Amino acid sequence: MAQFRFVTLLCISSLLIGLCFSADPYVFYDWDISYITASPLGAKQQVIAINGQFPGPIVNVTTNNNLVVNVVNNLDEPLLITWDGIQHRRNSWQDGVLGTNCPIPVGWNWTYQFQVKDQIGSFFYFPSLNFQRAAGGYGGIIVNNRAVIAVPFGQPDGDISLFIGDWYNSNHTDLRKALEDGKDLGMPDGVLINGKGPYRYNTTLVPAGIDYETINVQPGRTYRIRVHNVGVSTSLNFRIQNHNLLLVETEGSYTVQQNYTNLDIHVGQSYSFLVTMDQNASSDYYIVASARFVNETLWTRVTGVAILHYSNSKGAAAGPLPDAPNDFYDKYFSMNQARSIRWNVSAGAARPNPQGSFKYGQINVTDVYVLKNKPPVVINGKRRTTLSGISYSAPKTPLRLADQFNLTGIYELDFPTRPLIGSPRIGTSIINGTYKGFMEVIFQNNDTTIQSYHMDGYAFFVVGMDYGEWTENSRGTYNKWDGVARCTTQVFPGAWTAVLVSLDNVGVWNIRAENLDTWYLGQEVYVKIVNPEKTNKTELPMPDNALFCGALAHLQKPQNHSTSSASSVVSGRAKLLFAPALLLATISILF
Ligand SMILES: *[C@@H]1O[C@H](CO)[C@@H](O)[C@H](O)[C@H]1NC(C)=O
Ligand SMILES: *[C@@H]1O[C@H](CO)[C@@H](O)[C@H](O)[C@H]1NC(C)=O
Ligand SMILES: *[C@@H]1O[C@H](CO)[C@@H](O)[C@H](O)[C@H]1NC(C)=O
Ligand SMILES: *[C@@H]1O[C@H](CO)[C@@H](O)[C@H](O)[C@H]1NC(C)=O
Ligand SMILES: *[C@@H]1O[C@H](CO)[C@@H](O)[C@H](O)[C@H]1NC(C)=O
Ligand SMILES: *[C@@H]1O[C@H](CO)[C@@H](O)[C@H](O)[C@H]1NC(C)=O
Ligand SMILES: *[C@@H]1O[C@H](CO)[C@@H](O)[C@H](O)[C@H]1NC(C)=O
Ligand SMILES: *[C@@H]1O[C@H](CO)[C@@H](O)[C@H](O)[C@H]1NC(C)=O
Ligand SMILES: *[C@@H]1O[C@H](CO)[C@@H](O)[C@H](O)[C@H]1NC(C)=O
Ligand SMILES: *[C@@H]1O[C@H](CO)[C@@H](O)[C@H](O)[C@H]1NC(C)=O
Ligand SMILES: *[C@@H]1O[C@H](CO)[C@@H](O)[C@H](O)[C@H]1NC(C)=O
Ligand SMILES: *[C@@H]1O[C@H](CO)[C@@H](O)[C@H](O)[C@H]1NC(C)=O
Repeated sequence: MAQFRFVTLLCISSLLIGLCFSADPYVFYDWDISYITASPLGAKQQVIAINGQFPGPIVNVTTNNNLVVNVVNNLDEPLLITWDGIQHRRNSWQDGVLGTNCPIPVGWNWTYQFQVKDQIGSFFYFPSLNFQRAAGGYGGIIVNNRAVIAVPFGQPDGDISLFIGDWYNSNHTDLRKALEDGKDLGMPDGVLINGKGPYRYNTTLVPAGIDYETINVQPGRTYRIRVHNVGVSTSLNFRIQNHNLLLVETEGSYTVQQNYTNLDIHVGQSYSFLVTMDQNASSDYYIVASARFVNETLWTRVTGVAILHYSNSKGAAAGPLPDAPNDFYDKYFSMNQARSIRWNVSAGAARPNPQGSFKYGQINVTDVYVLKNKPPVVINGKRRTTLSGISYSAPKTPLRLADQFNLTGIYELDFPTRPLIGSPRIGTSIINGTYKGFMEVIFQNNDTTIQSYHMDGYAFFVVGMDYGEWTENSRGTYNKWDGVARCTTQVFPGAWTAVLVSLDNVGVWNIRAENLDTWYLGQEVYVKIVNPEKTNKTELPMPDNALFCGALAHLQKPQNHSTSSASSVVSGRAKLLFAPALLLATISILF
């Protein structure tokens, strides 16, 4: 079903070398995004599928590949797909969030085109608007290393992706209505693993007839298992009965290799583990993702269970699930686990030089922002969430487009470096980043629930986290040597997390809560990074197919729809012709 092709294009003229990245292969996908009916927890509902699949297809590419993803919006509401963790170097035009892109109207298609430049690792994509991720539409992104780059572990015998996430039987339109009405979402109805409900490990807790995920393995083999928390808002503890999880990578960075019996995976986070099938096959084994930091007696239903099935297994998994950490009264257990995740400074990643050759601990910070999360507040009669006292309101005209057309008054470049004192407000206030600066961001969580924060366009170094209020003295505790570089970090309630980020990627980039409820109610901001030098080398030009909306809506040309669906077969020949046309378009824009 999914159209998928490699095309290698050669530079037409040696004059183009340097500017032209066309020697890197192109990978094409055609995606039809539509609802399908599914009953992951027993109740029938509409879920968002890609080419009929839920979760969507895995984008499996290699460092520096050029991706061309043609997305057809066959939902009943506008759509954008964002590529969490893909850095879109010099190209925030393809980021798929409201600050950079106009939504793809219902029935329209839009073609994303970007290069996965200088990165490797495990990420995922999802629909970024309107709470749609709560209905699915997500899938994995695997960026493999180029053949010339050594990987710090042997070739695994298989590569398995697991999407874990809390799930509601209410659909995303009802969920966002609840939030707009000032309500909490309440306890989820369950946890899905790869779009499926729990294995019936307990006949009282799990009704009959639920389809569950089975992972088939061979005894003695070692698999790379990539786990993504794609849920709405619940932190999950991940574990596989009787099996060690050897952590090797998180969101594009190789980690120091350590075994865990279980790991807390927060909303938006991705990890790779190597798991060796070293147990006897007397039975199948449970794969568990259970709600964290909640009263588990009350939240038993919020548990995902899949099955690890050895080819020579002698029977079904039975008995109780492996234990979750019993740390209700030990708030440091999970934080210490997070702190134990370290960067492998001697491994190469996208490039052969060691990850640690970028000595982030020796770089002077140029910009410091304390971003403070507080419990939801009522502003102008609406329940909203704030960062540093400001609840983000998305303008009708994307920020990056407004800049391109010199529109003023769309946003203010005045986001405060320290939380505002006084009444919270709703506004479109963004961070003025310093190009080539080194920014320190302290996320301070004054709420009573854990949150995760994500930054588009970048990986940041997680250098510290602790309970209490961050002060300048907290810098003394920073890990200046092997803090892991990633794109999503957890911030514990009543605690802070500090990250450092090198602002070398021009564009307008989103920082947001990954917890959908918090994000939906206003907890996000953008960082604008402009190269003060007038050059067109540090940012790609606006793409030819840019959509226009808001104050620029008059520039939008109508779109013809001969067929309503991308699943109509495009012949290989047509596609091959399409590719050089694209290349020529790129060249003509660059010159
Ligand atoms: C969500 O459910 C409501 C009923 O609770 C229904 O009216 C609405 O059409 C559904 N939306 C989608 C996208 O399925
Ligand atoms: C990704 O593609 C490579 C070939 O380029 C293949 O060897 C690998 O098995 C694929 N991985 C997945 C998870 O499909
Ligand atoms: C929509 O798809 C068609 C056919 O693949 C393509 O030619 C066109 O450029 C796409 N439109 C946009 C805006 O990406
Ligand atoms: C199933 O769950 C119920 C409710 O938590 C519990 O009382 C019962 O002991 C469990 N049954 C088994 C076989 O573990
Ligand atoms: C991790 O556990 C496996 C057994 O499951 C063991 O063989 C391996 O040596 C351990 N690795 C480390 C780094 O502790
Ligand atoms: C297989 O392993 C399980 C769990 O470690 C153990 O309880 C069981 O006795 C073992 N069976 C055999 C035949 O070794
Ligand atoms: C969890 O909830 C149960 C049932 O309400 C209650 O009895 C128990 O004390 C709670 N546990 C904790 C640790 O709060
Ligand atoms: C950082 O600042 C200090 C003091 O201002 C200066 O001595 C040092 O050279 C700077 N380091 C770098 C890498 O710029
Ligand atoms: C925006 O302003 C710049 C600098 O003044 C100018 O070069 C550019 O042509 C303007 N763009 C538009 C679309 O007016
Ligand atoms: C934004 O920062 C740049 C330097 O990085 C500065 O030149 C500019 O004046 C700042 N703009 C505002 C509105 O503060
Ligand atoms: C929130 O901030 C207030 C004022 O600094 C402090 O007293 C309170 O303990 C904080 N609560 C949490 C959960 O961080
Ligand atoms: C890019 O910059 C070069 C050199 O400054 C200039 O000649 C060229 O016209 C620019 N191209 C575009 C599309 O602005």
